[in-house]
Amino acid sequence: MVQAAGVPVKAYGPGKVPVELAINGQKHTLQLEPRVTLLDAMRDQLEITGAKRVCDRAECGACTVILDNKPIYACSILAIEAQGKAITTVEAFMQGDNLDPIQQAFVDNDASQCGFCTSGFIVAFKAVLGKHPNASPEEIRHGLSGNVCRCGTYHGIHLAIAQIAQKGA
Ligand code: FES
Ligand code: FES
Repeated sequence: MVQAAGVPVKAYGPGKVPVELAINGQKHTLQLEPRVTLLDAMRDQLEITGAKRVCDRAECGACTVILDNKPIYACSILAIEAQGKAITTVEAFMQGDNLDPIQQAFVDNDASQCGFCTSGFIVAFKAVLGKHPNASPEEIRHGLSGNVCRCGTYHGIHLAIAQIAQKGA
């Protein structure tokens, strides 16, 4: 136990420590240095690559995953901090052989070019609908405000979102 500003703080590392992650309903036990982000743990150790590494500094939303019903940037949380929480990635969205309706709407409306932002938008929108099944335009705007498409495919993205919003979640 170390002290930070007079408060006892549990210290981890600097070597590898056991880390348990619950991703898409499956438990994974890894040996990781405490500095490893959730995004790097998923992509580099578990080959769960739906969340993309683009800016790697909490600016673009390409790495969005849902942590206990809340969308977060996986590049900006340590894997050890995600322990004990339910982590959901875009890989969990398929319904059997069928795409999730949000994924299908992105396909129907040609809402991606390079595709690096796509899973982040889809996960963030899923989180919006999880919280607000009949989300208002303002709630959708707010929920997607942390996601950026560098290709500028916003026209298709807006059409895909409108397609889902009109049907209701
Ligand atoms: S890669 Fe995480 S926010 Fe851009
Ligand atoms: S499709 Fe390329 S960043 Fe959005």
